[in-house]
Amino acid sequence: MIRFILNGDGVQVAQAAPTDTLLDWLRDRRGLTGTKEACREGDCGACTVMVTDAHGSRALNACILFLPQVDGTAIRTVEGLAAPDGTLHPVQQAMVDRHGAQCGFCTPGFVVSMAAAHAEGMTDHDTALAGNLCRCTGYAPIHRAAEDTAAAAIPAHILADRAMFDRDASPAGQGAAEDRTAPPDAAFFRPDSADALAAWYSAHPDATLVAGATDVGLWVTKQFRDLGPVAFLNGCADLRGVTVTLDSIRIGAMTTLSDLLPVMDDHHPSFAAMIRRYGSVQVRNAATVGGNIANGSPIGDSPPALIALGATLHLRRGDTRRTLPLEDFFIAYGKQDRAPGEFVEAVTIPRQPDRLRCYKISKRVDQDISAVCGCFNITVTDGAVASARIAFGGMAGIPKRAAAVEAALVGKPWTAATVTAAIPAFAQDFQPLSDMRASADYRLTVAQNLLWRAFHADHGSATDVLEVAP
Ligand SMILES: Cc1cc2nc3c(=O)[nH]c(=O)nc-3n(C[C@H](O)[C@H](O)[C@H](O)COP(=O)(O)OP(=O)(O)OC[C@H]3O[C@@H](n4cnc5c(N)ncnc54)[C@H](O)[C@@H]3O)c2cc1C
Ligand code: FES
Ligand code: FES
Repeated sequence: MIRFILNGDGVQVAQAAPTDTLLDWLRDRRGLTGTKEACREGDCGACTVMVTDAHGSRALNACILFLPQVDGTAIRTVEGLAAPDGTLHPVQQAMVDRHGAQCGFCTPGFVVSMAAAHAEGMTDHDTALAGNLCRCTGYAPIHRAAEDTAAAAIPAHILADRAMFDRDASPAGQGAAEDRTAPPDAAFFRPDSADALAAWYSAHPDATLVAGATDVGLWVTKQFRDLGPVAFLNGCADLRGVTVTLDSIRIGAMTTLSDLLPVMDDHHPSFAAMIRRYGSVQVRNAATVGGNIANGSPIGDSPPALIALGATLHLRRGDTRRTLPLEDFFIAYGKQDRAPGEFVEAVTIPRQPDRLRCYKISKRVDQDISAVCGCFNITVTDGAVASARIAFGGMAGIPKRAAAVEAALVGKPWTAATVTAAIPAFAQDFQPLSDMRASADYRLTVAQNLLWRAFHADHGSATDVLEVAP
């Protein structure tokens, strides 16, 4: 049984496959067709819903959100944004006043994103709306509407969703917890702790783990895959969150990229800047650090940054835990050092002075996958390179350290002559592929240029085009 609050009313879903998406359920089973279907892969935001739980209110893409992921939450679709007496939500009224819609297809997704941002007091409207695509109005009127509402009060019915979680972190039905952990023979398993997951997964090593579903969702909506037994990790509160101590920053596997952002703003701002360009708000609100590592993608954005920071991966199978340097987890394309029934519990970064520089190269600024992602952690003492950890995504079949480049730098003066001498080492480290994102030549050249960029940035030059004043 899946239970949640939908537009203020309690809902129980008994008959649903674990991979039924919220979008299909809303449209086909509830007739709530205001939530639009377009790309069905998390790219356009037409299907945006607002989901509230103990972590606050956030925009999520319903097209790649499975029903068990919203168990125990409160959901608002566009139909539930206006007050019960029909008064429009301030963002809806502002969209009318500012002529923020033409054909109107994207509009429900926009207003729900705006309402979620408004509920969280988010005033960076470019960031809040980067995951919503409008094909006809143009973004200026929409942006003005968002600005107009920044100071408006949060409507009472939206606050009521949030208030439920102030009282009780599981509001979507009293006594619902017994169903969420589900018997092992149920269509899906939703453990409530890492211990429960460990026990179940070691007994079901062929199962598919679902974290944020920003990858797995597409296996279903685009590849029509049957996932077999499924475990949803979103109930494992002890896998989510960041613990900062004097020595380390431990990031639980279920920590979302949105959760990680403020922590990295404090400790490694260049990593934070890259996270802001990771997908969109809707994607970052769902995607987890554990999923971004475990999927083994050669173009995931967080592994190069974490490897450059010297991260350690924590794996668990049953009661057995082991750790390994994150770079050793990635063996070859599609192959990771993970045994059947073993899962990612956390990743730990050693505390260190911030020297990290992360560069994401993609065709668009927002909502794009990296062609190349380069992360540099170079320490300079008395003018010489004391240590260097340099890692790239998009340059090989795995996220990979530039070992030859590092060796060419360490112990040498941090000068242009040293960089020039190190540049040929990139060809030793990497033989990149050509694909739709970039050619092999482009990738190699850009990686070499990123070392120059890190060098010039270290020497005080402005290297970010967004920071160069006209
Ligand atoms: C529109 C869009 C934009 C995107 N943009 C970016 C981007 O800019 N940068 C980027 O790097 N990625 C991007 N992605 C890819 C995706 O968001 C990431 O790979 C994401 O981090 C996956 O995390 P998840 O929690 O959604 O994983 P899921 O989809 O739930 O799972 C991914 C894989 O990891 C496994 N898994 C998950 N958690 C664990 C665990 N704890 N232990 C073991 N296995 C586990 C799953 O079984 C599955 O094989 C984008 C995706 C979409 C749809
Ligand atoms: S339909 Fe495009 S993001 Fe969901
Ligand atoms: S108003 Fe037509 S797509 Fe945005």
